[in-house]
Amino acid sequence: MKQYRVAIVGATGLVGQEFIRILEQRDFPMSSVRLLASDRSAGRKLFVRHEEIEVEETVPESFENVDIALFSAGGDTSRYFSPIAARAGAVVVDNSSAFRMDPGVPLVVPEVNPEDIKWHRGIIANPNCSTIQMVVALYPLHKVNPIKRVIVDTYQSVSGTGSAAVEELTTQTKQVLEGQEVVSSVYPHQIAFNVLPEIDVFLDNAYTKEEWKMVEETRKIMHANEIAISATCVRVPVFTGHSEAVNIEFSRPMSPDEARQILARAPGVKVLDDTTVSLYPHAWLAAGTDEVYVGRIRQDASHPNGLVMWVVSDNLRKGAALNAIQIAEEMTRRDWLSSGG
Ligand code: A2P
Repeated sequence: MKQYRVAIVGATGLVGQEFIRILEQRDFPMSSVRLLASDRSAGRKLFVRHEEIEVEETVPESFENVDIALFSAGGDTSRYFSPIAARAGAVVVDNSSAFRMDPGVPLVVPEVNPEDIKWHRGIIANPNCSTIQMVVALYPLHKVNPIKRVIVDTYQSVSGTGSAAVEELTTQTKQVLEGQEVVSSVYPHQIAFNVLPEIDVFLDNAYTKEEWKMVEETRKIMHANEIAISATCVRVPVFTGHSEAVNIEFSRPMSPDEARQILARAPGVKVLDDTTVSLYPHAWLAAGTDEVYVGRIRQDASHPNGLVMWVVSDNLRKGAALNAIQIAEEMTRRDWLSSGG
């Protein structure tokens, strides 16, 4: 089997760490791995497959002799280094939002639009975490009964913001419990014991950028510009796992049982839906696992063609690192590494 030379940009971050864990767990065919981060981490050592590897500062030369570069080091780093990596011959799978809506860059969730990988020109975008888990659950239903409108409310964990936010929730929780003054630096308000309806920046249309990502990215991935979507994205004091209340209006009625049957067969989805024993997905259960969990599937009492469901997944795994590695796997399996555009 062919082996690939892999680079991880942002290897010291939360998603970077998850990249390493998932490459190991899935036994990705790697002949070498280069760990890249900022100059702050240069010289740090991390283990990959029991081998100690030194973290290097990311510089333009970092991408020589690399086949696949997995990026999760923020938009600015991706904007600067991804084209350099692509020119050096690597295929970039980028977890930032830098290229997602670029019409020349595929935006891929392998369960939904794997064929889009084929036309890449050296960069493939990994969608936003909240969008990935939602489309994995929406797409199989949409194929059977076209979706007209989606209203989604999210409950997003702090790990989506990065390691500084995880530290902030930990510190603030202690500060509140010990009666000390609470200091906020990552979020605009206290996140411990609180809920904040602000993720990413506010846009001119009064939505946040995170909410607008869910609108635009969903349409691009599903090739369905006609779907009307409105999102409210909310940060909650949970470490790992994003939860979403998703309200769907179909073209025709769909019973909860039909939806359960379709989703039970859908790739990447696990239905957990038995309210008689309080069986439904929740963030604690999803953390550390790969599935997109769906439960609380019920008729929308306000619309004959409506369904409501609760969708939960690990935002660092399926919402970020796992989806990116599944894209890389698909490329290697189908021999789509060379640029198709
Ligand atoms: P570093 O640890 O050296 O700062 P998180 O999302 O968990 O905060 O992680 C962000 C990741 O992005 C880290 O690995 C971080 O490296 C990396 N990073 C931040 N800025 C840069 C940069 N300018 N060049 C390369 N990597 C960067």
